[in-house]
Amino acid sequence: MCGIVGLVGETAAAPRLIEGLRRLEYRGYDSTGVATIFDKQIAICRAAGKLINLEGLIEKSPIYGNIGIGHTRWATHGVPSSINAHPHATESVAVVHNGIIENFSSLKSMLESEGHKFCSDTDSEVIPKLIHHLLEQGHEPIEAVAAALKKLKGAFALGIIFAGYENLLIGARRGSPLAVGSNEKESFLASDAFAMAPFTRTVSYLEEGDCAVLRPGITEIFDGKNRTVNRISHESEHDEEMANKSGYQHFMEKEIHEQPRVIRDTLNSYYNSSGGKVFLPNNSEDLFDFDQLYITACGTSFYAGLTARYWMESIARIPVIVDIASEFRYRGSPLNKNGTALFISQSGETADTLAALNFAKNHGQKIISVVNVAESTMARESDLVLPTRAGIEIGVASTKAFTTQLVALACFSIGLAMRRGSISEKDGARLANLLEQLPVLTSDLLKNINRFTQIADELSEVKTVLYLGRGSSYPIALEGALKLKEISYIHAEGYAAGEMKHGPIALIEEGTPVIFLAPSSPLFDKTASNIQEAAARGARVILLSDQKGINELDGLIYKSIEMPEADEFIAPILYTIPIQLLAYYTAVCKGTDVDQPRNLAKSVTVE
Ligand code: F6R
Repeated sequence: MCGIVGLVGETAAAPRLIEGLRRLEYRGYDSTGVATIFDKQIAICRAAGKLINLEGLIEKSPIYGNIGIGHTRWATHGVPSSINAHPHATESVAVVHNGIIENFSSLKSMLESEGHKFCSDTDSEVIPKLIHHLLEQGHEPIEAVAAALKKLKGAFALGIIFAGYENLLIGARRGSPLAVGSNEKESFLASDAFAMAPFTRTVSYLEEGDCAVLRPGITEIFDGKNRTVNRISHESEHDEEMANKSGYQHFMEKEIHEQPRVIRDTLNSYYNSSGGKVFLPNNSEDLFDFDQLYITACGTSFYAGLTARYWMESIARIPVIVDIASEFRYRGSPLNKNGTALFISQSGETADTLAALNFAKNHGQKIISVVNVAESTMARESDLVLPTRAGIEIGVASTKAFTTQLVALACFSIGLAMRRGSISEKDGARLANLLEQLPVLTSDLLKNINRFTQIADELSEVKTVLYLGRGSSYPIALEGALKLKEISYIHAEGYAAGEMKHGPIALIEEGTPVIFLAPSSPLFDKTASNIQEAAARGARVILLSDQKGINELDGLIYKSIEMPEADEFIAPILYTIPIQLLAYYTAVCKGTDVDQPRNLAKSVTVE
C-alpha cells in the first residue's frame, strides 16, 4: 500500500527511481512522483495514474540530480490526482510517505495557525510542512526530522530530502516496512528490497522506531532512542527473472504456471521424501501444546485459514477458530491463557493482520505465522515462522501464495496430528504422499487451457456468478468468487452449497452461471442434491468434478471441467487451479487490467 524509494549517489537519480518504482507498482498505482535535489533546489514531477504517465512527463521535461525520492500511491486521504500525489514538499524539504498519519488534522490546524498553507487533501502533507516549520526554527535537518517524528501519530515509512543537501537522504519507519542498502558509491531505501535489487543485493530492514541517515555509500541506523544500531544485513534473493513476465502475457498468468514448482519448493520445507515423513520445526516443541487454535488473516489468506480448519479439526482433532484480522481484535474474544495463535499472510505486512498479531501477543498468545516474505515484520514478530516458498508475487490477485499457504498448512496439520497421536505415522505418510503428487497433478491441469478459455468467454458476458462447494471445497468457492470479482469486476458470491437454499438461491434465474466444486467425497451426494435444485431453477451449472462425478450428473450440467480423481485431503489445493484459470481468462476476455485491478493494491499496510 504505497511504495517508496530513495537513493543518494553520484549518477542521475530519476531513471533509477523510475526503475525502483516499477518494481513497487504492485503496492499501489493511483499516482506516482519523484523529487530530486538539483542546483541546491528541489525538483518535483508527479502524475496521476500509473508510472507510465510519470515516465511520459519526465521524458518531456527531464529532472536532474543525483539524490532523490519516489512514490507510488494507493489513495487513502484524497482522490488520486497529481495534487495529492507524493512527494509532498516545501521549498526546503520533500517527503514520500507510506502509511497514515492519524493526528494529521490537529497538526494541520497548528501549522495553519503558524501561517503554513496546504495544497493537497492528504494526511502526508503535514510531514514536510512540520519539518519545514522546525527547520525555520533553526534545527538542522537530522534534528528537525527527529523532532517531527516525535509529533507524528500513526504508521509511516518515510524518505526525506532537503534543498541544499545533495548528500543527505533520511529514512524512518514506524509501522510500515522500510529496507536500506548501500553499494560502494550509493545508498538506497525502499519499501521492499525488490525495488533495490538492480542496485544492491545487500539490505537491512529497519525496525520499529528506527531512523536511517543515508549518504553516498554509507548508511547509519539509529533506534528510537537515537542510539547507533546495527541491523542484520541480508542478501536479497531477488533476481531479474522475477521482475519480468518470462513470455507470459501477465504476471498473474506466470504465477499460476509457477505453482507446480513452488508447491514442490514449499513441500520440501516440511517433507523428507526419502524418509516419507512430514516434520515440524523441532526447536518449537512447547509451541504445539495447545487445545484450541486461533487462525487470523485477511482476504485470500483468510480463505487458506478456513481451509486449514478442515484439516486441523479432522486429522489433528484440534478445535480451530478462524477470524478475519480486521474483526478479531475488536471482538473482545477471550483468549486462552498461554494459547497459540496462527497468522497467515503473503506479504507479512498487512496492517490488519499485523495489528491482530500484536493484540494476540499482548494477550499472552504464542505466535506462529505462515508467511511468504521471510524478512517481513510478521515473520520477525513471530515465535515460529512456517515459510511458504512462493517467491515474489507481483500480480495483485494472489495465486501461488495461496496454494503454497495451503501446502504449508496441510503439512502443519499432518505434523501436529502425528505429534498428538490422532493419526498414526502410517496415515501421516499416506497424507504426505498425497501432497507429493501435487506438482504433477497441478502441472497436468495447466496443460489443457482451451477448456477454461471457452467457459471464460461465456462468463465474461454475465453479471453474476455463484460459486458453491461443501466441506473443504467451500473456502475454495469463496476464493473463486473473490478472484473473479477482483480481476474481472463481475459480481460473484461464494457460498457453502448447503446454505444456498437459505437465501442465495433467490439470485438464480434462467441462465445464471453456478459453478459447483464437487470432488468425489462422502459429501458428493449432498452437493448433487444442491445441483439438482440449482438446475431446476434454470441455472447454467458448471461442474468441476472428476469423471465419475460428471457422469453421475450428466443431463443436469451445462458445462464441466474434468478434474483428476483426488483424495479429499488434497482436493482443495487441486481445485484452486481451475478457479484461478477461469477468473484469469474471464478477465483477459473482458480486457481488464489483470495484474493491477482497479482500486486494489497488493500489500494493504493501512487499517
Ligand atoms: C486477493 C488478495 C488479498 C490478500 C489480502 C491479504 O487476491 O491478494 O485478499 O490475500 O490482502 O494479504 P496478505 O496475504 O499479504 O496478508
